[in-house]
Amino acid sequence: MQYKIGLIGCGTVGQGFLEILDKKSEYLSNTFNFETKIVAICDTLKGTLLIPEGINIRKLLQLLSNGNKIDEYLEGKPNEAGGMEALEIIEKCDADIIAELTYTDIETAEPATSHIKKALNAGKHVVTSNKGPAALYYAELNDLAQKNNLFFMIEGTVMSGTPVFNLFESGLAGNEIKEIKGILNGTTNFILSKMEEENMDYEEALRMAQKLGYAEADPTADVEGYDALAKIVILTNVFLGGNIKPSDAKREGISALSKEEILNIKEEGFRYKLIASAKKESGSISASVSPQKLPLSDPLAGVMGARNALTFDLDLLGNVTIQGPGAGKIETGYSILTDMLAIHHHLSK
Ligand code: HSE
Repeated sequence: MQYKIGLIGCGTVGQGFLEILDKKSEYLSNTFNFETKIVAICDTLKGTLLIPEGINIRKLLQLLSNGNKIDEYLEGKPNEAGGMEALEIIEKCDADIIAELTYTDIETAEPATSHIKKALNAGKHVVTSNKGPAALYYAELNDLAQKNNLFFMIEGTVMSGTPVFNLFESGLAGNEIKEIKGILNGTTNFILSKMEEENMDYEEALRMAQKLGYAEADPTADVEGYDALAKIVILTNVFLGGNIKPSDAKREGISALSKEEILNIKEEGFRYKLIASAKKESGSISASVSPQKLPLSDPLAGVMGARNALTFDLDLLGNVTIQGPGAGKIETGYSILTDMLAIHHHLSK
């Protein structure tokens, strides 16, 4: 089965996804009968292409890795899609699935929410790693998708490609989640790890996280806890049946932690981690993000670098902890693939 795909945003995640398709298309076709054709790409910085017969991924990646604009793909031929905005591209392209991969704005969730609504109203499934729309409008967008017999998939919004949402569609289905607790921001976990293990300064570690593609466009969202907050809000609303907004949860980041504090508590047998948690108790739901001093024996204390971890307290299994990458180009690009494979799995039943 072949899926026509439109990419709205072609930064780190979009390019990671394209690299995976470039490497694995034969395997995906042979193993899952899953084939793709990229028919549109729209990126505010890099340019726009609308090619119904499909874009040559390798050629496009080569251009982008040389720092060229997307429309140089056409080698001087006129680009009819050149001046088009994302909303127009979503409407006009012949895609079955729109991958919404623009930057996250946690306060307004725009322009991503408008892109997603446009796609769902135009009969296109949506796959996204953008945390804004999922944190602020998950119920509304999911309802719109269901009403139109479409999928709104958000695996990449929490823990990049490490399975979280899709786990409860299969392996952990049937469990009720009582409590969720974890490390949900790769950048801050990377910074804390570098400061402690390599005696690196905060600024240097942050720059390194930005260079590796972990940090948000504005890293304040990472270091002040807004990114982890968005993720715990998404988990709360999807898994605990909540209807909370980021402003309903307590938030504190890591920027006030000094290297001295981090090194001193290590000697006392503790480690700081930015912990996001949510709980349902006697019908009321609470969520928060804050740096916590964990004993080194705590499984979450051993999670280092940009890795994330999440412990679910389940009614049937007790505690189940998953650990894996929480950020990165290929890691988040993979979440887009895994959601598309989940859609394919449903549609080919
Ligand atoms: N900035 C985010 C992080 C990216 O560091 O975890 C993944 O959501």
